[in-house]
This record gives sequence, structure tokens and C-alpha cells, in this order.
Amino acid sequence: MTPHPLIRVRDLNVHIDDHHILKHININIPDKSVTSIIGPSGCGKTTLLKTFNRLLDDTANVKVTGSVLVHDEDIYAPHAEVTHIRKKMGLLSQRPFPLPMSIYDNVAYGPRIHGIRKKSELDSIVEQQLKDTGLWEEVKDRLHSPAAKLSIGQQQRLCLARGLAVEPEIILGDESTSALDPLSTHKIEDLFVRLKEKYTIVLVTHILRQARRISDYIVFVYMGEIIEFGPTEEVLLDPKEELTKQYVKGFIS
Ligand SMILES: Nc1ncnc2c1ncn2[C@@H]1O[C@H](COP(=O)(O)OP(=O)(O)OP(=O)(O)O)[C@@H](O)[C@H]1O
Ligand SMILES: [Mg+2]
Repeated sequence: MTPHPLIRVRDLNVHIDDHHILKHININIPDKSVTSIIGPSGCGKTTLLKTFNRLLDDTANVKVTGSVLVHDEDIYAPHAEVTHIRKKMGLLSQRPFPLPMSIYDNVAYGPRIHGIRKKSELDSIVEQQLKDTGLWEEVKDRLHSPAAKLSIGQQQRLCLARGLAVEPEIILGDESTSALDPLSTHKIEDLFVRLKEKYTIVLVTHILRQARRISDYIVFVYMGEIIEFGPTEEVLLDPKEELTKQYVKGFIS
């Protein structure tokens, strides 16, 4: 039983070339919480995350069947609009990719694309998002200097601020702290925990300690199948399935 699912995945299958990468995936992702997808390398974590904002559309020889409902809209329905779907989701990848422009322009980029032109309005969005991601005090005196000059950890928070500036509902993160030092990792983890008040957060991680620290729910994936899904404490400390037990004990990697 999961409260208030925001994303509902129904019998989702992904084939790439002739490989059956995701098999009969059924899951409800709860609203306003952190859900972490865990599992060994190559099990399909990134692929599953990509199905949520149709990022597999760009992959060659891919076939996706089944449905992913966000609210009640099937994002794989024939007339679903990819731009509209992606606007609902902010994606944070493994490494930060700031745009080659100033700190300010990185955050203002999305809102400008969506038609916001007034300087005062953009100023206030930039300030708000930089505050929400804990960057404001660190960068307020150099908003117009290049984003590339920031540390990697700051760049990752800037990328999060850029994503949040277009008011998504969902934040997707694929091993978003793997390139960061421990302090920056801690800051991003803290942010996820704070941001779940406003957003639904789905993260891929292979670090069990991280999953335990920040997630409300855990999805354990193994060879393209969901083996177990449930509250963090249950899945990590008292798993029902034998495969999950072996994975959390470190017998499968
Ligand atoms: N574009 C692609 N073309 C062919 N095979 C792919 C493609 N993308 C993923 N796969 C295959 O799908 C399977 C799942 O990959 P995926 O990247 O989702 O795993 P993962 O759990 O994220 O692994 P990791 O922990 O190493 O990031 C793998 O066997 C991978 O080789
Ligand atoms: Mg991956």
C-alpha cells in the first residue's frame, strides 16, 4: 500500500535491440516522497528512470509497451506531448552539466524559454531557486560570472536550481552524487530530503547507505524486474524476498 501515487507504471516492458531490458514493471511511486531505485549494475535502474520522462525516445531500436501514468495522463499514449511531459520533470544526471553561460542565465534559461521576460520576475526566480538549493549566499556576489567557475558540487546544485526554475512536479536523479565529494554529497542529499515537501523525487543509487539516509521508499530491481518495493526500513532491514536479502547483505553486486 502506497499513499497517493503520482506515477503509476502498468505492465511496462522495454526492449532494446532484441534484449528484454525491463520486464513487466508495475509500480506506484508515491507523491511528495523520496523513492530510491537500487540494484546491481546493468539491472535496468537508469532505463527505468528514463521511461518516466520518455528519455528512451532517443535510443535506437527501442520498443516500449505498457503505460506510465502521471496523475491520470499516460505519457506513452499516442497523442501525449513530450515537451509537456518533460516540463513536469527535472533531471539531475551523474555529472553536472551547466550551460556555458553565467550562473544567473543558467537559472533564468528555462523560465525565459517559457516566455518570462520581465527582469524583476527573472531576478526573483533566480534568487528563490538559488536560495532553495543553498547556493544564494555562496554566489550572490558573482551571479554574472560563468557557471563553469563553480566547484563541481556547486555546479550540481546549480543544475538542480535550473531544473526547479521551470516548476516541475517530479525530480529524477541518476546517481546524482557520484561525482561529488562527501560534503557536496551531503548537501545534495539534504536538499532532496527538504525538497520532498514540494516535489516527488525518484533517485537511482547503488549506495545503500545513501538510500537508507534519504529515501522513504525503495525499489529493488534485479535483471530487469522489480523484486521488491516498500518502505525503506522494510526493504533494507527486513526484506521479504530472498534476492533482496542477498543484495542488501552484499552477496550480489
Ligand atoms: N542504448 C542501449 N543500447 C543497448 N543496450 C542498452 C542501452 N541502454 C541500456 N542497455 C542495456 O540495458 C541494461 C540495463 O541498463 P541500465 O543502464 O538501465 O542499467 P543500470 O542498472 O542503470 O546499471 P548501472 O548501475 O551500471 O548504471 C544493460 O544490460 C544495458 O547494457
Ligand atoms: Mg545506471
